Amino acid sequence: MPPIPVITIDGPSASGKGTVAERVAAALGFHFLDSGALYRLTALSAMRHGVALDDAARVAQLAATLPAAFRDGTVWLAGEDVTDAIRAEAVGDGASKVAALPAVRAALLERQRAYRQAPGLVADGRDMGTVVFADATAKVFLTASAEARAERRYKQLIEKGNSASLPALVADMQARDARDTGRAVAPLKPAPDALLLDTTRMDVESAVQAVLGHYRGR
Ligand code: DC
Repeated sequence: MPPIPVITIDGPSASGKGTVAERVAAALGFHFLDSGALYRLTALSAMRHGVALDDAARVAQLAATLPAAFRDGTVWLAGEDVTDAIRAEAVGDGASKVAALPAVRAALLERQRAYRQAPGLVADGRDMGTVVFADATAKVFLTASAEARAERRYKQLIEKGNSASLPALVADMQARDARDTGRAVAPLKPAPDALLLDTTRMDVESAVQAVLGHYRGR
């Protein structure tokens, strides 16, 4: 039996990888894993239980037993719809902190691999191609400049009726990149066999076509 195909799409926050990954999954009829949501759920769960984000043992325990569910684009934690709550900047920041803890990453590993089901999977994150699905069929590393990513996030926030400061978002983006890239376990970096796709000046549809072309050429 050939292995179930996996396409990994890694890259920094707001690089557009989530949107691209979802569309690629839809085009192929594949399952979709937003691994960042699992780190966000872990952070939210810790915040709600009053667990310090640097308490590795207790945060890992929460990660291992997350009562999480994904349904038609919505995300649930212990029976509550937290689709919007996990997107808050504070939760994203907390996710980046808990993601630096080796015990938390280990606790989430098998859970992520369980999403590999027929007819295939598109997985988006930071270490999908380097660690979780190192044997993936096709790997992509999506980037864009910090300024372009901050501008995209700014537009999303304004569209949702939130206030936002572009310089603060650029600084925040750079700080999170430094933490994700500089951590000791599973740092954000392209797999040696990944296709590098810089989307600073590329629209979503072109990025989707580039990923599909890469996959079909494998
Ligand atoms: O993709 P995202 O912004 O939702 O991810 C939230 C945080 O989780 C981000 O700071 C990095 C971390 N993360 C990770 O370390 N490994 C992954 N596979 C996915 C996300």
